[in-house]
Amino acid sequence: SVPEAQQALDQVDVMVRKAFPGVDVRWAYTSKIIRKKLAQQGKIFDSPETALAKLMDDGYTHVAVLPLHTIPGREFHELSQNAHLFGPMAAGFQSILVASPLLSSHEDMTQVAKGMLQHIPKERKADEAVVLMGHGTEHHPADAIYLAMNQVFQEVDRNVFVATVEGYPSLDDVLPKLREQKVKTVYLMPFMAVAGDHARNDMAGAEPDSWKSILEKNGYNVKVVLKGTAEYPEIVDVWVKHLQSAYSHFE
Ligand code: CO
Repeated sequence: SVPEAQQALDQVDVMVRKAFPGVDVRWAYTSKIIRKKLAQQGKIFDSPETALAKLMDDGYTHVAVLPLHTIPGREFHELSQNAHLFGPMAAGFQSILVASPLLSSHEDMTQVAKGMLQHIPKERKADEAVVLMGHGTEHHPADAIYLAMNQVFQEVDRNVFVATVEGYPSLDDVLPKLREQKVKTVYLMPFMAVAGDHARNDMAGAEPDSWKSILEKNGYNVKVVLKGTAEYPEIVDVWVKHLQSAYSHFE
């Protein structure tokens, strides 16, 4: 819903096409709300189901889906379930594979943490904190990944924390740790593929309930970075690697 966030998806498009020369790439948007909003601007996007049906009509036999989800939560499982149904259909694909979301192994987490740390603004000093805003989910097995990710960051830098909008840990869970570490300045960065509505409003917005406002009310000097993880090539590399891995399983 935020035009500036499109840069992140463009970055993925460029890197996927580069990794798969000669392979057709199509985009689909899972969110009905976003598809509706874009349609009002004359930008028509298919749902994954419609996009797959069109590929079937167009005679494709092998399809790999790259979900740009961060964690294997509810939305990933729904996408995966529906995509796989296109295999057993009469005249369905010979092979339909769904790649893993961004954080699917310890190796992914390490690589993503490394990529993320590289993009913390250079002027940040070691005694200043970084709080990364993840989405979080009520899908608890997947939500636990944020806690694991927090640990991965903490092993490298005691002042980098992961918090989530809708899951655990929340900003409230991080506040006592910031006090403990006696930091004065906090950098806020989205830990989501795109810096969309959550990043611009819930994280960096002027409303009293934004993370920026809450931290400022608690006496911190706050600096914000408005870039999604899919704008960082080192992180997109992990998604591309998952797509390559799915692709290598085609018969
Ligand atoms: Co949301």
